[in-house]
Amino acid sequence: MIVTTKELFKVAYGRFAVGAYNINNMEQTLGLFRGNLESRAPFIVQISKGARSYADKRMLEAMIRAADLIFPEAVFAVHLDHGDLPTALDCVESGFYSSVMIDASHEPLEENIRITRQVVEAAHARGISVEAELGRLGGVEEQVQVDEKNAYLTDPGEAEVFVRESGCDSLAVAIGTSHGAYKFSGHQSLHLDVAAEIQKRLPGFPLVMHGASSVPREEVERINAAGGSLKGARGVDEDEFAKAIPLGVTKVNIDTDGRLVWTRVHREFFRDNPEKFDLRDPGKIFVAEYAKFIAHKNEKLQSAGTLEMVREVVAG
Ligand code: G3H
Ligand code: 13P
Ligand code: ZN
Repeated sequence: MIVTTKELFKVAYGRFAVGAYNINNMEQTLGLFRGNLESRAPFIVQISKGARSYADKRMLEAMIRAADLIFPEAVFAVHLDHGDLPTALDCVESGFYSSVMIDASHEPLEENIRITRQVVEAAHARGISVEAELGRLGGVEEQVQVDEKNAYLTDPGEAEVFVRESGCDSLAVAIGTSHGAYKFSGHQSLHLDVAAEIQKRLPGFPLVMHGASSVPREEVERINAAGGSLKGARGVDEDEFAKAIPLGVTKVNIDTDGRLVWTRVHREFFRDNPEKFDLRDPGKIFVAEYAKFIAHKNEKLQSAGTLEMVREVVAG
């Protein structure tokens, strides 16, 4: 069942965070749905602009529709990740997405509000939820290169003005995370004080944490032992999710960790089976491992076990 992120957040706020996972291919889609059903969790399927051009937006839509038929118990939102204005409007017009992100965070505040407002008007007219972004994450965002040194945290006062004037339904905030596998260099953690200050000004308003992969050390070591070279990769401590949830973090974006699962499975498979060439052999292992990974993340996000309750609420 496809629902909006707004419906999911109404149930989740303050209790658990909904995992938002990016997909690019069939194996990820299968593993994602399996893992969420095994852990009895609602979830968000995210599609980036890069995924839409890699797999073709029609292929992704068809795969998700097929997964909805194969896994009729699933409760999920279909969300555009880091949309620019034309892509966000295209997704709204397609009638398939239940939620879109407009990321104009690289623009000055007024321009970010103006662009976001435009998407909000189009989306709300069709019952589609809108996520916007304020503040800059370090690292690399789709189309948006931000030097980690220039990264800045979301200003709570600006967040209040932004939400009021843009009309968005949820807000991606910069609280110390960045995209990709290389998030932290020294001893750093989330700026939960900033989340708390934003919550004070926007009580009950869902906040989104991007760049939330944890880049597990064991995963990196296995990849490197199988021929990879991921040196000094570090991510977010998964145990910090539990601290962020009461502060209004209701959606947590995870992509890189899934890519690491894919890389580990395929590197180890071909290292250990150099004579093999049937793509379905590592594919099957990946689907199972990806499902296990999703179920584990849902435990940390405390969304595991909430599926029946969420379904009851959203089905009215
Ligand atoms: O935040 C970006 C997501 O990880 C999507 O990455 O643009 O390479 O598909 P992508
Ligand atoms: P990671 O790179 O930490 O997985 O973040 C993903 C993300 O924010 C997608 O929008
Ligand atoms: Zn992101």
